[in-house]
Amino acid sequence: MIICSCNVLSDEDVRSVIEAERTRSISQVYGRLGCSPKCGRCIRTIRRLMDEALDGACATSCNGCVQSIQS
Ligand code: FES
Repeated sequence: MIICSCNVLSDEDVRSVIEAERTRSISQVYGRLGCSPKCGRCIRTIRRLMDEALDGACATSCNGCVQSIQS
């Protein structure tokens, strides 16, 4: 699905950069994809994809440590 119509970026494009490059900022995502933000409407979606990737990475590497901390 296209999430950035200005740069014609799909969610898969963004996810692949986030996962492969371990990008830490939205500007890095655009940079790795060879573009820059224009209208900015996609920034919230890219942020959400980054948060989802971080949550997934934490769940995998922490093996439930958040649950043990909370209890
Ligand atoms: S939709 Fe991504 S910069 Fe416009």
